[in-house]
Amino acid sequence: MRKFITIDRHSFDKQSRIFLNLPQKSMSKLICLCKGVREDAIISATDEENASSLVDIQELTGAGSNCGRCTPKIELILAAQSKAKLV
Ligand code: FES
Repeated sequence: MRKFITIDRHSFDKQSRIFLNLPQKSMSKLICLCKGVREDAIISATDEENASSLVDIQELTGAGSNCGRCTPKIELILAAQSKAKLV
């Protein structure tokens, strides 16, 4: 007799990545479409590399260095990060 199990797609993907030793997919928002940079990469740049300006982010991550359409989102993240550091 066959047994069927149900595995939701997200947990299957996570567990198979652990089993295959693949990097975990980031679930944070995609900020820069041109360079494929996600929000967590920008936050890491501000936290770990002390990036505090758009130019810093462009140099460290590449985000905002092509068409520039994502630069307002990057500025918002930078503003939120500097505000969070003050608190
Ligand atoms: S969307 Fe970020 S540079 Fe184009």
